[in-house]
Amino acid sequence: MDKCKLAVCQIKVTSDKGFNISHAEDSVRRAARQGAQVVVLPEMFNCPYETHLFPSYAESYSKGETVQMMSRVADQLDIVLVGGSIPERDGDFVYNTCFTFGPRGDLLGRHRKVHLFDVDLPNLKVQESSTLGPGNELTVIDAGFCKIGVMICFDVRFPELARLLVLAGIDVLVIPAAFNLITGPAHWDLTMRARAVDNQVYVAAASPARDDRADYVAYGHSIVVDPWGDVVARAGTGEEIIMVELDPEKIREVRGRLPLLTQRRTDLYEIIRK
Ligand code: ACM
Repeated sequence: MDKCKLAVCQIKVTSDKGFNISHAEDSVRRAARQGAQVVVLPEMFNCPYETHLFPSYAESYSKGETVQMMSRVADQLDIVLVGGSIPERDGDFVYNTCFTFGPRGDLLGRHRKVHLFDVDLPNLKVQESSTLGPGNELTVIDAGFCKIGVMICFDVRFPELARLLVLAGIDVLVIPAAFNLITGPAHWDLTMRARAVDNQVYVAAASPARDDRADYVAYGHSIVVDPWGDVVARAGTGEEIIMVELDPEKIREVRGRLPLLTQRRTDLYEIIRK
């Protein structure tokens, strides 16, 4: 990895898809003007986070207006745009999908959320699988100057997936996500910092801004954690762009001091598992 600047755009999401798309574009342009080379959007940035709405807001890769905006903007701004997530239609299925575009507007990668958010919390039941299908691929994006692993929200609770991405050589784990007012205070910082410390990589998580009138209230507090586990940037609850310089030397230094990846005992784990 080369040193590079990454921005997370914490933006509000409304019921107006057209507004959401142009609002995201404005925010990405602002981040690029501030010098960002990698820009990250939140989970479901073009659609309210309500499972029953996903199919009607969904679009296909080939015809989607959100996808077209992201490709055009990445090209014009000469950036890598990790496009949060949108409901993606493919045949009979809808997925929670992150499309990433490169500086020539080319598609660098597509992550379909692997672990769907089917949970039963106090006063909050969510069943993504009622309208979404699960992804089944590991998503590593080679942006040239850095390697990015993508997971979406609930995926972060599965350390096995993060470890596979890290073994594939990523420098930064990018996580568009929409925790809520129950899981956010309890686990947002904890899970993001844990994945960074486990794997000695940067973690950048992008949340929608909080809207207390929404059916599902996103936590906010988009965050970037360094490979030591220090929080190097953290948004509040409103709209905000946070920006961080990612430094490969920081990864080397932490891995040099605590050689976790080289001290793994995969031979022993295989024996124990049998
Ligand atoms: C989540 O997976 N949206 C929490």
